[in-house]
Amino acid sequence: MRVRTAVIPAAGLGTRFLPVTKSVPKELLPIIDVPALQLIIDEAVGAGIDHIVIVNSPNKPSIEAYFAESPEVLAKLDASGRSDMADRMRAIGRDVKVSFVYQHAALGLGHAVGCARDAVGDQPFAVLLPDELMGSSELLAAMCAVCIDTAGSVVGLKRVPMDDVSAYGVIDPIGEVDANGVVAVRDLIEKPAVADAPSDLIIIGRYVLTPDVFDAIDALKPGAGGELQLTDALRVQAAGRPLHGVLRDVRRYDTGNPVGWLSAVVELALEHPRYGEAFRAELERMIGRGPV
Ligand code: G1P
Repeated sequence: MRVRTAVIPAAGLGTRFLPVTKSVPKELLPIIDVPALQLIIDEAVGAGIDHIVIVNSPNKPSIEAYFAESPEVLAKLDASGRSDMADRMRAIGRDVKVSFVYQHAALGLGHAVGCARDAVGDQPFAVLLPDELMGSSELLAAMCAVCIDTAGSVVGLKRVPMDDVSAYGVIDPIGEVDANGVVAVRDLIEKPAVADAPSDLIIIGRYVLTPDVFDAIDALKPGAGGELQLTDALRVQAAGRPLHGVLRDVRRYDTGNPVGWLSAVVELALEHPRYGEAFRAELERMIGRGPV
């Protein structure tokens, strides 16, 4: 048994990145020369996923366009001998089946995941929030293994300063995080006030969920911010069966806001096999010039 399907909620308005997100979905913002969404899919594939369900908005057709064939561009690349790029283009979506479902109103993350119910079916599945880029598939792979071992849902965790917890879902752990980075979860609270937060362990945008979560989602009432919150559906699960968190020291970028996106682009550009060397020299020149 393995986790094969991943849901990527991508119907959000991207208000933290206006005005570019008026016409370019934030999921397609470039990380050097690939859309952020491609890196999320690569992370999922690296953890063993072979079916991606994108929860899209009807207002963002360019997300689907990214996966469509582009025979004219390919013909041009082939004719001009750019076969490396032609091969890269042909590989988009080849290792993985990509399906689309639609969320017609922005009612919250719980609602977005609920829209994928029929496409997911009756199996455990991952959820990857595309605003967060991870440096590797390691966290998601570990979470999938814990889900299979425990037959319960799993959330990705990060420890943050107490002052930052109110922007996130926060877990109430049972005991300490073990040597493998795993901790049992008693309860979860979406965006608590600092004084009400049960810990400094926040939920990051990675989940591996058992399919009974869909019944809990169907029964959701508006929670924090008036939205149907996935965290509240997980609360229902935690009350009735084991739910775990996994804490891993992986690189993570919040690419849904300009500074996080810039950090990701700069750090990954410095490591890029093709552009890294030239970019490093350029960056050193800029920084050497002193404050401008
Ligand atoms: C969502 C979840 C929250 C989680 C966060 C991670 O919040 O509701 O529990 O901690 O993602 O990024 P959002 O950022 O959509 O407000």
